[in-house]
Amino acid sequence: MAAEIQRGLEDVVALESRICFIDGQKGRLIYRGYDIRELAERSTFEEVAYLLWYGRLPTASQLDELTSRLVPLRELPPALAREIDELPLSAHPMDILRTAVSALALVEPEETRPGPTSIGGAQRLTAALPTILGRFHRRRNGGKPPEARPGLSAAAYLLYALLDREPTELEARALDVALILHADHELNASTFSARVTASTLSDLYSSITSAVGTLKGPLHGGANERVMELLAEIGNPERAEEVVTGKLSRHERIMGFGHRVYKVEDPRATILREWSRRVGEAKNELRYYELLRQVEAVVHREKGLYPNVDLYSGSMYTLLGIPHDLFTPIFAASRVVGWTAHVLEEYEDLRLIRPTAKYVGPTDLPYVPIADRR
Ligand code: CMC
Repeated sequence: MAAEIQRGLEDVVALESRICFIDGQKGRLIYRGYDIRELAERSTFEEVAYLLWYGRLPTASQLDELTSRLVPLRELPPALAREIDELPLSAHPMDILRTAVSALALVEPEETRPGPTSIGGAQRLTAALPTILGRFHRRRNGGKPPEARPGLSAAAYLLYALLDREPTELEARALDVALILHADHELNASTFSARVTASTLSDLYSSITSAVGTLKGPLHGGANERVMELLAEIGNPERAEEVVTGKLSRHERIMGFGHRVYKVEDPRATILREWSRRVGEAKNELRYYELLRQVEAVVHREKGLYPNVDLYSGSMYTLLGIPHDLFTPIFAASRVVGWTAHVLEEYEDLRLIRPTAKYVGPTDLPYVPIADRR
């Protein structure tokens, strides 16, 4: 008897992992045993990276060591810098990122080239992604490429690389929290795609190139960019009800709502809602926050759907001065830690990932010579 099809592999348990646990019923997210709420409150992105890669929180000296390893890796190999400078300025930064990740594997100088399946590559990519994005974004604004800036944390460096100015403490901490929240999420589509690639014994850079391409889609990483389009369409608060109910009646999806795994509110949305309010207050600009609260109320009343991580991230990034097409790349600059942790886990206990399909086409068709085909 043919096995039942799980479209979208929904509820299929594909592998064992020690990295991340999501309790979709209770709205909990756990990295290596630690609740995301506590990590977002007490740790930094670098600590979380260490946790995801090595399976334990770092001591102070382990964290220092990691930081001093990451900072010089912010510098791009000259050949990659040149390549980024030749790519079309009209390109979407996710396409730049996908191309640059793939190119980095080719142009890394021999002496710093990490083993194709080693943690060195994970650290190289994590350190280099902000520089790749900053270099491209500054060039489209007519600016100079970013420098490594050893004194800046990963979050502060990402903001500096993009905005060409050092962020305030609040701005850097707000982004730090966002990076922590996005760092991993079990077998989401991009991580799965990275693991599928790794499961063929392909290298880490190829796996991450697959993941970047998968994250780009609006049903995954691209949703926060679309949330800002919705806010622009709504314009003023009185129109929220009309615009949202209109979309729902046309069976359109409201970006930033719903989740395959969470049946209650995504805990990342709860934390980002609060941070977007804090940043809004600091900048005296609560318009987006208030609009989104209204959208939330309408979507919940009409469809019973809860916000996901993408609802408040985009408006917070906008207040930080980040253009919309860099939202998904920022997601990638964080998720690269989770992707690489999963790829390394895949290498440890490798099994080729290869599901099957139920064939529903014809069989036994008679072959018609080309001259006789109509
Ligand atoms: N707006 C309107 N209706 C929705 C939405 C939404 N955002 N999400 C789900 N629904 C409805 C859907 O139309 C369907 O209704 P019905 O049963 O009447 O046809 C029902 O809810 C179930 O939807 P589904 O597509 O079967 O659920 P799914 O598990 O495949 O959806 C999802 C997960 C994230 C693709 C979906 O909720 C969605 O498209 N959301 C909008 C895009 C978005 O915000 N993506 C970011 C996800 S969080 C970031 C990440 O972790 O990657």
